[in-house]
Amino acid sequence: MKVTAKVPATTANIGPGFDCFGMALPIYNEITIEETVMPGTGIEISVISNNQDELDIMSIPTDKNNIVYKAVELLYNSIGQTPSELKITIKSDIPIAKGLGSSASVIVGGLLAANELLGRPADEAALLSIATEVEGHPDNVTPAIVGGVVISSQEEDGRVVYRKLDWPEEWKIMVCVPDYELATDIARSVIPKEIPLKDAAFNLRRSAMFVHAVSTKDEKLMKLALTDKLHQPYRMNLVPGLSEIIENLKHEEDVLGCVLSGAGPAVLVITTGNSQDRIKEIVKNTWYNLNVKSDVNILKVEEKGAFILN
Ligand code: HSE
Repeated sequence: MKVTAKVPATTANIGPGFDCFGMALPIYNEITIEETVMPGTGIEISVISNNQDELDIMSIPTDKNNIVYKAVELLYNSIGQTPSELKITIKSDIPIAKGLGSSASVIVGGLLAANELLGRPADEAALLSIATEVEGHPDNVTPAIVGGVVISSQEEDGRVVYRKLDWPEEWKIMVCVPDYELATDIARSVIPKEIPLKDAAFNLRRSAMFVHAVSTKDEKLMKLALTDKLHQPYRMNLVPGLSEIIENLKHEEDVLGCVLSGAGPAVLVITTGNSQDRIKEIVKNTWYNLNVKSDVNILKVEEKGAFILN
């Protein structure tokens, strides 16, 4: 038997919601899991892609260190089994190491496909907990599973609590991806273990503003909300161009905010109105002046989470 799951990309943090806010985006990976009939064939993992850098593909482990395998193993273990003969194929279209949730998507895809193969022993709550355990934080895996714009939290007992927000249709999401990469573990390592109280209070205020602004389509409040003092200041040096892009867009009336996508280096520009073409030019030129090529796309929120294709 063979099952394929299709999983959206995600962007996390969205300014003040470090490790909490996330949004699904319409770019997808597909993960296929096949039970091989021949006993003793073990675990076979392959990665295919039409658009990724070959070196990126080659850097993905294809042994038991692969995160898809780790997630699948946890699922099997949760029902007292061990995966033995499995063929895992990852069709990777979500850019790797750009801050667009490529790792969350393959974890979720592996879990969903394996769950289907096993006759669905895990419900959504169990899948969320296992995916968060492998990923380390819930803000990418939750929207990858449930779609939409989500606030999520992993509680001490491992449960993931989430709620969806209704994103205003007229707020466009510009996903700006530079040609360089940034590994999430490096981007996390530069954040200090302890944060000044005034910065924590700043983000508390901004997160509350964010939720209210999204729920009431309050653009003025959103312009205040899309700021951060917990992670972006520490990551600035790892993301050439981010501070310049923020500076160059500061007087654009239609820009509600400009934030790091997840751990970066992709940048999200949230806009309203119709000046996306000009904003795109500003972003691309800012990076170009720093010798960085980039792709800028206007995307809608993907309201649908991961699903089984066949
Ligand atoms: N919240 C995470 C971070 C998202 O900023 O490190 C990246 O996986």
